[in-house]
Amino acid sequence: MARHRVCSTTEVDPGSFMATKAGGQKLLVFHLDDGWFATQGSCTHIFAPLNKGTLDADCGHITCPFHRAVFDVRNGLVQAGPSFPPGVQLLDGLRATRPLQTFPTTVDGDDVYVEV
Ligand code: FES
Repeated sequence: MARHRVCSTTEVDPGSFMATKAGGQKLLVFHLDDGWFATQGSCTHIFAPLNKGTLDADCGHITCPFHRAVFDVRNGLVQAGPSFPPGVQLLDGLRATRPLQTFPTTVDGDDVYVEV
């Protein structure tokens, strides 16, 4: 793992997130009330781009834009599996939805770093 500067603290408003790349990986960097967090950039179900997803900043959950799986961005854990369209759960028999990979994220001065 190496430490990568991904943005300044002023680039991402509290309660929002940005997409970026570091260490050859697409990442999402989240600015929540209790700190900064980073996850992989695509859904673990069938790899939808999570930068098109919806963040509920109050609970730190992101909803996938494709089939609406929900993940906690603080630890990557699945909060709800794919639920849209009806019947999509049948795909889970082929590919179980796994947690998102998360990455240690730190702030040093005005800069945000992710270890990838
Ligand atoms: S691709 Fe994200 S829930 Fe299906």
